[in-house]
Amino acid sequence: MPNLLSDDGRNVRLPTGKLMPVLGLGTYTGDHADQVYNACVAALKSGYKLLDCAYAYGNEEEIGRAVKDCIKDGTIKRADLFITNKLWNTMHRPEDVRPACERSLKTMGLDYFDLYIIHWPFALAKPDDPNQFFKLDDEGKKIMENVPIVDTWKAMETLVDAGLCKAIGLSNFNISQMERIRAIAKHPISNNQVEVQLYLSQVEMLQYCTKNNITMTAYSPLYAPRRVWQKEGDPPPLLDNETIIAIGKKYGKSPAQVMLRFQAQRGIAIVPKSFTPSRIKANIDIFDFKLEDEDMKTLHGFNKDHRSIGGFAFEGVKSTKTYSISGFDVEAMNGFTSGVSMVTFTIEVLPKIRKSHRAGYKVAPTIRLDKQNCLNISVRNYA
Ligand SMILES: NC(=O)c1ccc[n+]([C@@H]2O[C@H](COP(=O)([O-])OP(=O)(O)OC[C@H]3O[C@@H](n4cnc5c(N)ncnc54)[C@H](OP(=O)(O)O)[C@@H]3O)[C@@H](O)[C@H]2O)c1
Repeated sequence: MPNLLSDDGRNVRLPTGKLMPVLGLGTYTGDHADQVYNACVAALKSGYKLLDCAYAYGNEEEIGRAVKDCIKDGTIKRADLFITNKLWNTMHRPEDVRPACERSLKTMGLDYFDLYIIHWPFALAKPDDPNQFFKLDDEGKKIMENVPIVDTWKAMETLVDAGLCKAIGLSNFNISQMERIRAIAKHPISNNQVEVQLYLSQVEMLQYCTKNNITMTAYSPLYAPRRVWQKEGDPPPLLDNETIIAIGKKYGKSPAQVMLRFQAQRGIAIVPKSFTPSRIKANIDIFDFKLEDEDMKTLHGFNKDHRSIGGFAFEGVKSTKTYSISGFDVEAMNGFTSGVSMVTFTIEVLPKIRKSHRAGYKVAPTIRLDKQNCLNISVRNYA
């Protein structure tokens, strides 16, 4: 197995040969969005070099301004920064990929991204208004589109050739979807950004990625404590967990620092979001201690394969295609569904009858009609 972590544990090496910082600032937020400028400035002044951005977060302009101001006042040089951005689902058509990247670069005032990744492995229909994130049908449901992920990837590769980004990668892709990309890729997959937190340790994904020289980024590494998409039955928050507090005390660290260090020590990059200056500072202070093997083992023991982020953003998504059950095209389905996150989709399965299914599969899906005459496709998911 290659070791992708640098000796000082502060960077991972991408297959392009470039280093990516192990710790960066997450910038997605449903609340106090107006604070993103201050948060980015605070992060860059605290020594952060990686900013995790996305078109869909709707805050590229503010982040770009923070970067520009910090470069101008000498806080950081562009060459020392690592900026990740993500291609949104409505821009998967090959002809839309370059304009999407160029638009994000322009909004942020940048010449290139260090890493540009496909945000989700399925496409949504393009809205008529380019400032909308979804195209809705008459019932207010999001409309999907069938764009094979390999076609989107080929268009992503042209961005590297054109110098618009230094490396390209994926987000929310499962192993079978990554295999499909690897089979045709001319440029390597540099990174897969997926949810990784103590309840979802992603052991299999990490093995797969490491073996294939692909770095991983953990999103929601603190188990997104104040997420609005919290569901009944979710395992409890982790920041006040007694075991994690006790481990932290051994090293003089907080539970958040323990959780971040745990992933960093596994060789996984982490992008915790905080817009609170004291937490921003604390979250990067994880490189002066090393968790002992017994503590790593205890922390591994939290795993429940439990995902905090579900398909909330995509509920009510409706396919533009009609399938018959017997003719279900698994390849097309793979393109349609992320295979990662128990996403609830609504698809037209039989003419005139709307069915819904939960997807995200590792093995052949089990298909059944439920009492509401809904099509349920259930499978284990793992990305
Ligand atoms: N690729 C994808 O599909 C995807 C999906 C989700 C997220 N992401 C990325 O991953 C980033 C992080 O994920 P996330 O925001 O879902 O979850 P997270 O980083 O696990 O948790 C963020 C929450 O933790 C709080 N927090 C941060 N540091 C703390 C500390 N030291 N002590 C106590 N509370 C702390 C923050 O509050 P305050 O801000 O109030 O400090 C915020 O409410 C996102 O911002 C985004 O960049 C990517």
